[in-house]
This record gives sequence, structure tokens and C-alpha cells, in this order.
Amino acid sequence: RTVYVNGEYQPETTAKISIFDRGFIFADGVYEVTAVIAGKLVDFPGHMARLRRSLFEVELALPHSDEEVLEIHRQLIARNALEEGLIYLQVSRGAADRDFMYPAEDVPPTFVMFTQKKALIDNPVADRGQKIILVEDQRWHRRDIKTVQLLYPVLAKNTARRAGADDAWMVEDGCITEGCSNNAYIVTQEGTLVTRELSTEILSGITRQSVLKCADDLQIRVEERPFTVEEIRQAREAFSTSASGFVNPVVSVDGTAVGDGKPGPVAHRLREVYIRASR
Ligand code: PDD
Repeated sequence: RTVYVNGEYQPETTAKISIFDRGFIFADGVYEVTAVIAGKLVDFPGHMARLRRSLFEVELALPHSDEEVLEIHRQLIARNALEEGLIYLQVSRGAADRDFMYPAEDVPPTFVMFTQKKALIDNPVADRGQKIILVEDQRWHRRDIKTVQLLYPVLAKNTARRAGADDAWMVEDGCITEGCSNNAYIVTQEGTLVTRELSTEILSGITRQSVLKCADDLQIRVEERPFTVEEIRQAREAFSTSASGFVNPVVSVDGTAVGDGKPGPVAHRLREVYIRASR
């Protein structure tokens, strides 16, 4: 692969950053993930806007305009002949001798981008549905910032996998916050789509924003509020959304079937409509 590192396109095998990089030492950085289908970026303006917000919240400046960042995405798609997959954008507060204090003004941020080829539309998990386990949400309380500090989701996803599940949803005060790398939804017996409202307790998903717009177009009733573990057990269906999974049905939670235990029609419809709109 060709990757982008601090102003240069390089082969991944020779690209390097410092051992003192603050992303490595302190998880002092933010990132974004944008999907590519048919060689085109999906929801790029939303991801760019969220990147700006994350950078602002952690007091980090990126010396590139939005147009320059878009151009690097396009270059990476072209140079890697990327038809379908993901583009990762990682920014850290640069490399300097280890010190909690921000480095001197003249230390530039580290800016890395790379592609990941991946079948996103033909995803077997979307056909069979995800098995989810519930874990306590032990993350910090600024989950609205997309930081590279992902240790808890890494642990939780591995716990899920060991338990024979696909992913973990996180629970706080009896309610679901979100998945490890996705937003969480249920569809009630009345057909209402329920997903937690935006706050500092969850990441504002760019896919969430688009999928809620699709739901509105389809005249599906939406409630943005926390939902409980008990409500999942009563729900007709459940699903998650993310740039990497689009709309992904959930068929069981902690071993108990959701609804009839098969991927639900609302998730299926929203997945179709979202993918069609993104092509
Ligand atoms: N994850 N919540 C969390 C904690 C996430 O990490 C993500 C995205 C989302 C969904 O956001 P979006 O729809 O903008 O992708 C919600 C990315 C895909 C990742 O795997 O790092």
C-alpha cells in the first residue's frame, strides 16, 4: 500500500514515525474513518466536520485545509486503486521528549493516512446478523471526541469474540450508550426506532446522522433517547451503524434472541437505502 505520512506518499514498508510520538506515548491524538464504495468517499463532509471538532476539543491544530485533506483522500484512493474499503486518518500532537505538557509550538503534529481494502457491501455479518454481548461502559466521559485512546473497546471486542459473539454494546446506568465502534438502535414492537440522543456520552456517528435522515424519508418514527437492556429484550429488532458496517442487524444479545432472532426488515431497508444513496 501507499500511505501518507507527514506530507509524503510512501510505501507502507518504509513509512516511519518517531518512537516518541505522543500518539504512542499518551494516546494524545484523534482520528477519523471514512468508507469508500465504488471508488468514492461516503459522507466525507460529515467526517471532515467531526475531525475539526475533535481537533478543537483536544486543542490540536492541523496545518491543512479541508480541501487539502480531501485531496489526500482522493490521492490515496487513486494510488491504491481502492474500490471498496476504509480510509483512516490519524493525527497526534507530534513527537517530543516525553512530557505531559504540550510540546513547543514548532513541533508539528504527526499526520498519517492509510487505506484498508475491505468488502463493505457484501458483508456476511450483515446477512446473518451480529451476536452482541453487553459490557459495562468503562470509558472516559468525553466519548464525543474521536480520540485514539481505544484500549477499552479493544478489550471489550476481544471479550466478545472469546464469548463467540461479534461485538459488545456498552451499558451505563442500565442503558446502552453505544457499541465499541458503532451506534446502537432498537425498533420497538410499535415500530419506533430508538437511539440514544447526542451528548458527551457517545460519539456523534456520521452514519447515524445519515441513517436518521433515511429513516425520516421512509417515515419511520424516531425517538432519540437512552434505551434499557430490558427494552432490547422486548424489541422487535436491533442494529448498529458505523462507517465500516453501514447498517448492521443484531440478532442476539447475551445469548437471548432479539425479536425472532433473524435480521429485521427495518435494518435491512435502512441498509439498502443508505448504500444506494452513498453510491
Ligand atoms: N468507529 N461510536 C464509536 C465509539 C465509534 O468508534 C464509531 C466509529 C461510531 C460510528 O461513527 P461513524 O458512523 O461516524 O463511523 C460510533 C469507526 C468506524 C472505527 O471503527 O474506528
